[in-house]
Amino acid sequence: TKQISTWPYPRVVAHRGGGSLAPENTLAAIDTGARLGLKMIEFDAKLAADDVVFLLHDDTVNRTSDGRGLAASMTYAQIAELDAGSWYDARFAREPMPTLEQVAARCATHGLAANIEIKPCPGREVQTGRIVAEEAARLWADAALPPLLSSFSFEALAAAREAVPALPRGMLYGRVPDDWRAQTDALGCVSLHADHRALDAGLVADIKAAGLCILAYTVNDPARARMLGERGVDTICTDRIDLIGADFFEGA
Ligand code: G3P
Ligand code: MG
Repeated sequence: TKQISTWPYPRVVAHRGGGSLAPENTLAAIDTGARLGLKMIEFDAKLAADDVVFLLHDDTVNRTSDGRGLAASMTYAQIAELDAGSWYDARFAREPMPTLEQVAARCATHGLAANIEIKPCPGREVQTGRIVAEEAARLWADAALPPLLSSFSFEALAAAREAVPALPRGMLYGRVPDDWRAQTDALGCVSLHADHRALDAGLVADIKAAGLCILAYTVNDPARARMLGERGVDTICTDRIDLIGADFFEGA
């Protein structure tokens, strides 16, 4: 396992840009995260049919836009026409699904660190991992902190590593499988990201002892965030950036 002496990332990350305060995975969400004082955001990146990297959580555009269909079957020009804000609130009408390039520029404007979650469309794991890593390396070349790449897809992270070994990687899990050590070793991960409900005290200690940092998602209860921090979790990813702000762990 690649060891990093000090975890360089902030202790609180806004989930999908602005947590629950803005339409997920949009520039407006990133602006919201920055406005509330967050220092780092997480977002979901995948490929359009023409291999443009853009932000979307699901395989389809149905839930978070006024369009319908599989992202993998639409060009980015088609996706860019869709309104990804009105489903959340009329005041975000016409907010588009941004490209990774637009997101990188907005993070630079706000001085935000980034956790790029590689969220491939089914069957496109290897290509997505490679292209996202190449684009991230290019777009964040001048950033103070490299973007942290994470994915539930082992194949995507392996492809990202092969393409750009220098970018830090974190393996993402719901439940943490018994072979987490072998998987994170094989990928040269700096961190393990898990559903916070999977992170009991013993597992946190084991992961830390293996030299990995830990990011817990999605923690929306301040008392729970406090407990995870005391257990040794390095960073929490939250929807409630209004309750768990950038300075939540300060002085703790
Ligand atoms: O990266 C942490 C978290 O975003 C993983 O779950 O489904 O919200 O992408 P999901
Ligand atoms: Mg995510």
